[in-house]
Amino acid sequence: MTSPKDFLRKNLTMVHGYPMTYAYEKNWENIKQFQSRPDDIVIATYPKAGTTWVCEIVDMILNDGDIEKCKRDFIDVKVPMLEMYLPGLRTSGIEQLEKNPSPRIVKTHLPTDLLPKSFWKNNCKIIYMARNAKDVAVSFYHFDLMNNLEPFPGSWEEYLEKFMTGNVTYGSWFNHVKNWWNKKEEHPILFLYYEDMKENPKQEIKKITQFLEKNLNDEILDKIIHHTSFEMMKENPLVNYTHLPSTVMDHSKSPFMRKGVTGDWKNYFTVAQNEKFDTIYKNEMSGTSLQFCTEIKGTKSQI
Ligand code: PPS
Repeated sequence: MTSPKDFLRKNLTMVHGYPMTYAYEKNWENIKQFQSRPDDIVIATYPKAGTTWVCEIVDMILNDGDIEKCKRDFIDVKVPMLEMYLPGLRTSGIEQLEKNPSPRIVKTHLPTDLLPKSFWKNNCKIIYMARNAKDVAVSFYHFDLMNNLEPFPGSWEEYLEKFMTGNVTYGSWFNHVKNWWNKKEEHPILFLYYEDMKENPKQEIKKITQFLEKNLNDEILDKIIHHTSFEMMKENPLVNYTHLPSTVMDHSKSPFMRKGVTGDWKNYFTVAQNEKFDTIYKNEMSGTSLQFCTEIKGTKSQI
C-alpha cells in the first residue's frame, strides 16, 4: 500500500518533456483527461508568482467581498490545484474540483502544453499571474526547503543553477511565461504581474473584476485589498498553508508566507550570479515583448 512517505523528497519525473513533482506524475492520465466546465475560472502561474494571493482575491470577488463566505474553507479546498495528488494524505485536486460548485476556481502551475485540452475547448477564462524571475527563484528555493513534496534544493548556489537551466518542477520559468504570454493572442487570458499587484492592488483587482464581468463598488474593493494584503494573509490560517501536516510543509524551515515583497533577490544573488543570470535572461527573453520589473517602483529597473 502506498504511504504519503513514498512521495516525499523524491527526484522529479519527466512528463511530456517537463520535470514534474514525483507524486503528481502518478496521476497524469486523469489530469490529462480532466473535463472542465465552461464557467471554470483558471488561475495559472509559474510556482511562487503569487498564486495564493490571486486565488483569494478571485474568491473574494466572486463572493462580492463577503469575508464570512470566504472563510468557508481552506484555500486548497476553495481553489483546488488541478495536479495535486498525494494519496493517503490529501484529497486530490481532481476529486476536490469534482465536488466544488460552479463557477469553480481552478489553480494550476501547468505550462500551456500540459493544460488539459478541455480548458481550451471550453474557452474557459484564465488569469495568468507572472512574477519577475529573480524573486521567483528566491521564493522557490525557500519553498523547496520547506515543501517535502519537492526534491531537496541543495545550497542556494546549486539551486540557482538548476533554476536557470529549467531543471526544477514545471521546467523553465522563461518558457512558462513566454508561452502563456503568447497564448493570450488566441484565448481569453488576463495577464497580470505580481509587481503591479503590489504597487497598485486596486487597479489590478479592478482588471480582474472586469474580466470576470463583475461590478464591485469602491468600499468592496478596499475590503478585498485589506483582506488579501500580505500581512492579513500571513496570519490567516485558512490561506497560509499551516493546516497541512509538517511532514508535507515544514514552516519551521521557511514559512509559506515568507516576505511578500519585490526585490528580495538582492539579498541572495551575488554580483557574479546576477551577471550570469542577466546574460541567460537576455538570451532566453530576446524576441518577446514581455517586460518585468525587479525592484519596487521609484528605484525601478526593468529586465
Ligand atoms: S505556490 O506554492 O506556487 O502556490 O506559491 P504562490 O502563492 O504562487 O507564491 C508564494 C509567494 O507569494 C507571496 N504572497 C504574497 N505576496 C504579497 N501579498 C500577498 N497577499 C501574498 N500572499 C502570498 C508569498 O509570500 C511567496 O513569496 P515570497 O517571496 O516567498 O515571500
